[in-house]
Amino acid sequence: MLLLGTSASWAQERVTEYEYITLPYALDALEPAISRRTMALHYGEHLRSYVENLNRLIKGTAMEGETLEDVVLMAEGPLLNNAGQTLNHNLYFLQFSPSGGGEPSGALRRAIVRRWGSVDNFRLAMEEAARTLFGSGWVWLTADGAGNLYILQEAGGLNPVRRELRPLLGFDVWEHAYYLDYENRRKDHVNALWQIVSWPVVEKRFENN
Ligand SMILES: [Fe+2]
Repeated sequence: MLLLGTSASWAQERVTEYEYITLPYALDALEPAISRRTMALHYGEHLRSYVENLNRLIKGTAMEGETLEDVVLMAEGPLLNNAGQTLNHNLYFLQFSPSGGGEPSGALRRAIVRRWGSVDNFRLAMEEAARTLFGSGWVWLTADGAGNLYILQEAGGLNPVRRELRPLLGFDVWEHAYYLDYENRRKDHVNALWQIVSWPVVEKRFENN
């Protein structure tokens, strides 16, 4: 299995309860890219609900005790939806920082330039994938085992681990992620996310390949 290296809940021991992560920043720390009000609903209500549903639905199933990532690989139906959204949001909230922004460096930067020609072209490709994703879903920068990068669109709560790709950076384009702040201007929201991406976090996910 893959280890994402972003949370203790992905350690090898059996899991007794899936964790509702603690944010490493205040609810208003990502303003103006993401408002306190959106964070209070998105982290405080949506993610909490996914984690509670996951912990309720997994009880008594053969998957109880497996790592979150393995549950996402094995589950179907409502359990997959809630486990997938828990994993997605853990990755999402932990990849941001009030001191984020700038550009990637090191091996990740080299891989981006190899794949898209420049960091700017990569940004445009992520923005285009977010713009053209129909309905609710996610856009991910992902890597395969050889360190090749791909941008993926995932519908609903699916996660790239189900395609044997490692998620590095995810943009949530469900309306709950941006509608309070940007109404229907998904493009403006996605453009603003570049100001808060913590590249060291994303680089670490890539280097743990
Ligand atoms: Fe979300």
